[in-house]
Amino acid sequence: MAGREFLTQDPAWKSLKSFYDSNAKSLKMLQLFKEDPRRFEKFSVSLDGKDGALLVDFSKNLINDEVFQLLINLLKSAQVEKMRDAMFAGEKINFTEDRAVLHTALRNRANTPIYVEGKDVMPDVNAVLKHMREFTDKVRNGSWLGYTGKPITDCVNIGIGGSDLGPVMVTEALKKYQCGPTSHFVSNVDGTHLAETVKKLNPETTLFIIASKTFTTQETITNALSAKQWFLQYAKDEAAVSKHFVALSTNGPKVKEFGIDEANMFEFWDWVGGRYSLWSAIGLSIALMIGMDNFEQLLEGAHHLDKHFLEAPVEKNIPMILAALGIWYSNFYGAQSYTILPYDQYLHRFPAYFQQGDMESNGKYITRSGQRVDYSTGPVAWGEPGTNGQHAFYQLIHQGTNLIPCDFLIPVETQNPVQNGLHHQILLSNFLAQTEALMRGKTLEEVEKELRDSGMSESQIKLIAPHKVFEGNRPSNSIVFQKLTPFTLGTLIAMYEMKIFVQGIVWDINSFDQWGVELGKVLAKAILPELTSPNVIASHDSSTNGLINYIKTLRYG
Ligand code: F6P
Repeated sequence: MAGREFLTQDPAWKSLKSFYDSNAKSLKMLQLFKEDPRRFEKFSVSLDGKDGALLVDFSKNLINDEVFQLLINLLKSAQVEKMRDAMFAGEKINFTEDRAVLHTALRNRANTPIYVEGKDVMPDVNAVLKHMREFTDKVRNGSWLGYTGKPITDCVNIGIGGSDLGPVMVTEALKKYQCGPTSHFVSNVDGTHLAETVKKLNPETTLFIIASKTFTTQETITNALSAKQWFLQYAKDEAAVSKHFVALSTNGPKVKEFGIDEANMFEFWDWVGGRYSLWSAIGLSIALMIGMDNFEQLLEGAHHLDKHFLEAPVEKNIPMILAALGIWYSNFYGAQSYTILPYDQYLHRFPAYFQQGDMESNGKYITRSGQRVDYSTGPVAWGEPGTNGQHAFYQLIHQGTNLIPCDFLIPVETQNPVQNGLHHQILLSNFLAQTEALMRGKTLEEVEKELRDSGMSESQIKLIAPHKVFEGNRPSNSIVFQKLTPFTLGTLIAMYEMKIFVQGIVWDINSFDQWGVELGKVLAKAILPELTSPNVIASHDSSTNGLINYIKTLRYG
């Protein structure tokens, strides 16, 4: 699909720019709420779901009816609907890798045929799900036995990036649903990660899951070989490996070469991007921990969002609205980052997951037609669970010089009603207070009155008051759901995936390749032998040479 030249020449873009230049400063949220008692109803969307509704309140944003309409016009003019349909239909929209983008097929619970190069992919998708069910059932019910005849108690997923972050995030988020072995994760090639993980484990009851789409990733293969070595120290028999090592990959020959039985390989396909792969066999560690029924609920939840994304009109379409708001801030207000702030401890890895999801997808400066963009693309995504963030970085969000749009996520219902739910009441009140404070701010008059009422002298008030003023008018989305179930988590993940996709369409970039990580990988491979060679290294710039030689001197004298 050909790219669009010159986004900034688009009439919808130009209208937004001219609105921003002449009117943006007059957009005061507090005032807009006073003027329109229906603002909350107007600027919020509720999506009913199996486990309760998902409410997205975007009324605390720097928009009025006109801006909202202009943003919708921009999405339409960027033909987001056409591109969305092309993705779901299996067109090769990831043209730099000549691949379709079909993580949606992995969760296509309607089981309608989806064709890639004339072949329906659904029979293969269903076959792998069946394989996953058979295997995870056996492990969970204790009929899959280790080399000494003991059932599996622990699984170690060895993978990195998309072959790690999704399973880590989801197993943390759905800990409450654990009904199988405990999952552990080794991603970093730093030997500490593997050493500290296996030291707590019993090789007789541990299953290693080698998760790598390519099965060539240096970190993963190095960790996998070392894990095998650790295991064989105890088992002392290569034949035992088949009971303790399985692979998740698209690369059958490499899996075989590593010594993993093909029967223990769970396949996926080149049309599953690494950072969109938790829905595929890469989710095996999730399915082992929470059971296949719950894993399928996760898929159902994502499918539910996919249907909404496909069917809802642009102005009621949650991922499209979130995408448009992000563009408004990134491209017109100059916001360079946004935060994801889950008020649910179970979601503590959710922001980290979407760091890859967003930044590896949209951190690109070349348009689909090969031009350098003259506008910002992917923002920095960051965040931590509230209320921890409140005591760390919220200062910057409230009174810093950069505009940082925030997404607040919170369940109405806690899964741990400690002290009769008191903790959750406190959590809810903090979430509500933060979004209100960001929007309302606090004026100089309010501060001065407060200080005067406390008995402070006028000279002290003059000194202190400016520091206590909050400009306010800082935007946030409130994303409220009933309870963090597998279904709801699936919906939330898919919501962000599609938001990121829509932004990539508008920015006219390919959100599905990741060439930016290649150069470092290639250079690291070249440097590796230099670190062990006895020669003084002189093949790089003086800094790189100096560092290599310094490290070698300290290590080897
Ligand atoms: O970081 C680059 C990347 O290719 C990611 O996109 C991917 O998720 C990760 O490496 C791991 O790749 P693999 O699953 O092939 O080991």
